[in-house]
Amino acid sequence: MISIPPIDGQAIQRRLMELSRHSVLKDRLWRPSYTPQEAEVRRQLSGWFAQAGLQPRTDAVGNLYGHAGGAGAKTVLVGSHIDTVKDAGAYDGCAGVLCGMAALQALLAQYGPPRVPVELIAMLEEEGSRFSDASFWGSRALTGQTSRDMLSCRDEDGISLARAMEEAGFDPAKIDTARREDLACYLELHIEQGPILEHRGVQLGIVDSITGIGILRVEITGRANHAGTTPMDLRLDALQAGAKLVLQLPELARVFPNATATAGSFQVLPGSANVVPGQVTMLIDFRAARQEDLDALGLLLDQAAHELEGEGFAVSTHFRDFILPAPLDPGLGRLQEECARDLGYSAMHMISGAGHDCQFFARQVPSALLFIPCQEGRSHCPQEYAAPEDLSRGARMLAATLYRLAWVD
Ligand code: GLV
Ligand code: MN
Ligand code: MN
Repeated sequence: MISIPPIDGQAIQRRLMELSRHSVLKDRLWRPSYTPQEAEVRRQLSGWFAQAGLQPRTDAVGNLYGHAGGAGAKTVLVGSHIDTVKDAGAYDGCAGVLCGMAALQALLAQYGPPRVPVELIAMLEEEGSRFSDASFWGSRALTGQTSRDMLSCRDEDGISLARAMEEAGFDPAKIDTARREDLACYLELHIEQGPILEHRGVQLGIVDSITGIGILRVEITGRANHAGTTPMDLRLDALQAGAKLVLQLPELARVFPNATATAGSFQVLPGSANVVPGQVTMLIDFRAARQEDLDALGLLLDQAAHELEGEGFAVSTHFRDFILPAPLDPGLGRLQEECARDLGYSAMHMISGAGHDCQFFARQVPSALLFIPCQEGRSHCPQEYAAPEDLSRGARMLAATLYRLAWVD
């Protein structure tokens, strides 16, 4: 039976609030990567890591590590990300880093240094909220899944990823040195970002697999014209066409189990009240748990977009590289079950509809993702909240799992 000391969830929450003050927006949280605000979070975390007994270092892309000690060739890695979406909550990402830190601090205090190397990691640009074509940048670099093309993708101000790195003091020519080939396994704690745990009254979610994600860019061109003089039946209104496509998304997604399709980014040109819209560009985010479903849903969406050509519109579509669905390690899943039982916590198996750094690790090493509940399932919004008791339970679960992986034989 493992003895894991109590962990103060309120202290974790206070630190989450401290980190959430570092934002590029005045009254709302947005922490894109390679900004002074992100550097400030790294500086703050480095100090906390050192106090917790974790030796800090930053890699070539800006991921921050905290080394807990231990001998041997293979490292147990635990962590999450520190960048946020626009108008974010304080928990997505940072909760995993701070619960990991609290877990390691408790284990170091109770049991001394680990038997094998253990490191905590705070990764960047998971959300792609600054560089949408380079989401999961930190975990991609660590697992050797970046491409040189990504360095030339641009943010909304036209700044390339390479230039943003340079401005933040990192050398884009060195990204390959961030690659780790010595990992034994990867663990991540995250808020669920959905309502299931809260709804069922279950304390922890053991994630069996993480969704695959596709993005389809659709550009529809109609005919811009005067809004007052062009009769309704003689228009080629690109927004009407785009809206028709958006209205089909629920029925197309429903064809596949646990699939979703969302048009969350929509641009209308020329964007004047008195002009019939001539062009719309939308990004459709679509997700499914199985690769074959993701592929098939992508085809259906593409077909539905091109069907608008039959009504006289010009349609062009482009798929971004898919982020593949990731089954997680069943052995680590069983270990998590045992730890939850030992600690007296209720747990259920589930799949993740959100993307996570964990899915990039899962292709290479045994990987596990643990969910704690978040209030009303809200996330990617300022209302995001996880209770101190849930943060504490999550951190103790990480501690129990890490203890079994790195402290005992
Ligand atoms: C990341 O949070 C995603 O699921 O898009
Ligand atoms: Mn997120
Ligand atoms: Mn996240």
